[in-house]
Amino acid sequence: MKDKGEKISMLTAYDYSTAKLDAAGINGILVGDSLGNVVLGYDTTIPVTVEDMIHHGAAVARGAKNSLVVVDMPFLSYQTSVYDAVVNAGIMKETQCDCVKLEGGKSVCPQIKAITDASIPVMAHLGLTPQSVNAFGGFKVQGKTVEAAQQLIEDAKAVEEAGAFAVVLECVPAKLARKVTEALHIPTIGIGAGEGCDGQILVYADMLSMFSDFTPKFVRSFANVGEI
Ligand code: KIV
Repeated sequence: MKDKGEKISMLTAYDYSTAKLDAAGINGILVGDSLGNVVLGYDTTIPVTVEDMIHHGAAVARGAKNSLVVVDMPFLSYQTSVYDAVVNAGIMKETQCDCVKLEGGKSVCPQIKAITDASIPVMAHLGLTPQSVNAFGGFKVQGKTVEAAQQLIEDAKAVEEAGAFAVVLECVPAKLARKVTEALHIPTIGIGAGEGCDGQILVYADMLSMFSDFTPKFVRSFANVGEI
């Protein structure tokens, strides 16, 4: 789709019935660890477990018939070692999702390479990576300084080189996201990263204004389901 200049559409889903709505024509579904916030009521994605992802990932995979289904690897399921990363990427097998997503750049490239070598496709995730919220000191736009922007471009090239088939860019300046998109052969999927990415993703509960704990500035609301 990137090569043809076609935009890629993605939403999150965490259950069977929502996943079945992929009949509407969405290209990809992410079983995001954002389920920690929107389904389980945690403040962050940090407490989410591999078991949580298997439970919800399998339900989504049963419902989705037309789209690529990506399941998130939760915090500390891949950072600890390359071995742990490959074993836990087995959530693709457990859930029957099509591939996994993990957060980070150069520091997790050995994990990306090992997981892809094990025939499990990997989507990368850069910018505001929510599993690192404590290290960032809050949910803040990333890549704002020249050094941070340069680092993000290098991380994006590194994850591509390591074998990632796509990369999510979350909360980075639009100009930077466009630059990264132009620099990579693999597609970029933006969330709060402007219009220059190859695709866009939203958390479906944000898109429908069902989740009221906080609403990121970039969210476009398509219906006010919570209030109604
Ligand atoms: O967990 C999630 O829903 C995500 C998206 C916000 C990209 O990682």
